[in-house]
Amino acid sequence: MLNLGVLISGRGSNLQAIIDACEKGELPAKVAVVITNNSLAYGVERAKKHNIPVLAIEPNQFKDKNTYELEIVKILQQHAVQLVCLAGYMRIIGPVLLEHFQGRMINIHPALLPSFPGLHGQKQALEHGVKISGATVHYVDEGCDTGPIILQAAVTVLENDTEEGLSQRILEQEHLLYPQAIKLIAEGKTKIEGRKVRII
Ligand code: GRF
Repeated sequence: MLNLGVLISGRGSNLQAIIDACEKGELPAKVAVVITNNSLAYGVERAKKHNIPVLAIEPNQFKDKNTYELEIVKILQQHAVQLVCLAGYMRIIGPVLLEHFQGRMINIHPALLPSFPGLHGQKQALEHGVKISGATVHYVDEGCDTGPIILQAAVTVLENDTEEGLSQRILEQEHLLYPQAIKLIAEGKTKIEGRKVRII
């Protein structure tokens, strides 16, 4: 069983997809702890409903980013977390978290990276006029959505698509993709080789 720590800031629908896949026995993993920077995040309720320990760690209660991240590292270690999953966690990961979890921290992004990193990936894709967008699960490195790519799913952009409609269709793919990527890691089937993730 791989112990997961999930970091969220909001709705938590990806968290829910991960919890459900674990509970159904679809992957050899369990969510050991959920951490949020926003105590009002709806994902907090989702964790509570499944009796998963959930902690709100508010950055403004710490003197700087490093101290804040050290607290997160401490909690992740207390729960013996082996893989950190960012699921709508709206903060850039700093050197403290990276140092402890590089190669053991992944993120999901609502676009086909390296296109449209950062905020509002779906809106960026629409405005650019691409015909295909999608979702990406990748390892986290020091950049913004730049780490080695584990899995991607394509979603067709429709004529007259809206940000809402495209986001919804991408989200459906995210909910399938994230558990699949975690499964690969839990089964020891990913190997990072430079920029590439080899699936073995
Ligand atoms: C998702 O679209 C994810 O790709 C992005 O933030 C959103 C989080 O949604 N990083 P949720 O909180 O998991 O519902």
